Amino acid sequence: MVDTSVNLCGIKLTNPVIPASGTFGFGYEFTRFYDINILGSIALKGTTKEPRFGNPTPRIAECPSAVLNSVGLQNPGAERVLNYELKTLKSIYKKPVIANVSGFSVNDYVSAVNILNEDSNIGWFEINISCPNVHGGGLAFGTNAENAALVTKTVRGITNKPIIIKLSPNVTDITEIAKACEAEGADGVSLINTLLGMKIDLKTKKPLLANKTGGLSGPAVKPVAVRMVYQVYEAVKIPIVGIGGIASADDVLEFMLAGAAAVEVGAANLIDPYACKKIIEDLPKAMKKYGINNLSEIIGGAHNG
Ligand code: FUM
Repeated sequence: MVDTSVNLCGIKLTNPVIPASGTFGFGYEFTRFYDINILGSIALKGTTKEPRFGNPTPRIAECPSAVLNSVGLQNPGAERVLNYELKTLKSIYKKPVIANVSGFSVNDYVSAVNILNEDSNIGWFEINISCPNVHGGGLAFGTNAENAALVTKTVRGITNKPIIIKLSPNVTDITEIAKACEAEGADGVSLINTLLGMKIDLKTKKPLLANKTGGLSGPAVKPVAVRMVYQVYEAVKIPIVGIGGIASADDVLEFMLAGAAAVEVGAANLIDPYACKKIIEDLPKAMKKYGINNLSEIIGGAHNG
């Protein structure tokens, strides 16, 4: 019997597979497909202090082995998430969840975290400083080490829950941002958010997305993500949540060998709502195939020797 459990910032997960924020709603929507209690945890839809309608459409474009999105942080706002989404999920899902929080100013992050902080089902905050699809927030924090440090330090000061900072790949050196977050008290980092991209519609001869640019995710970005997880593992001591094109149990093992303590599965959920279930079911088989008995023991294994 193999051991798939891992520890993320002091909280034990039965397995490392977590649906990524923005690809799994608030979790309860997926109960029509399977018992979501098999999931290691759930990263909830990105939440801002105020409700947001999101960007104009079209805001999704298919690409080879990838998808471009420019959703624009559509969400019902922190009060509604606290009073409805989290309460609904609580009646179904019995494990700690990850609340993903975005903002357009440091105060926005503070307001949203303060509202959600009282919910005991939230095990971690994932602080999104890397959304490429909004102006005046998101990337402005995630592409500058000083700004990333300021958000981290401020949020660190208002919650006792572990904070995981979600990092952008749209930088010259992601390790500098990760180190700045660690220095200001981040308990972990998650990476990568999406890569800034564009698709041109040959019929209109214009960018296909109404927002012109979007964030690229899916299997096409996986090698970039694995490289960045590997680099960040060598730069910081805090746990890493690996994200980027994960679609199979083999992908999970690859990210963990690079240095991830857990993983988030994103675009795969858009293709197949059963993606996380299949990965979790395949994980023990993949571990046996590669001679792995204890999953947590392989974290960072690609760095040894
Ligand atoms: O547009 C969006 O809502 C995407 C958010 C993100 O990538 O963080």
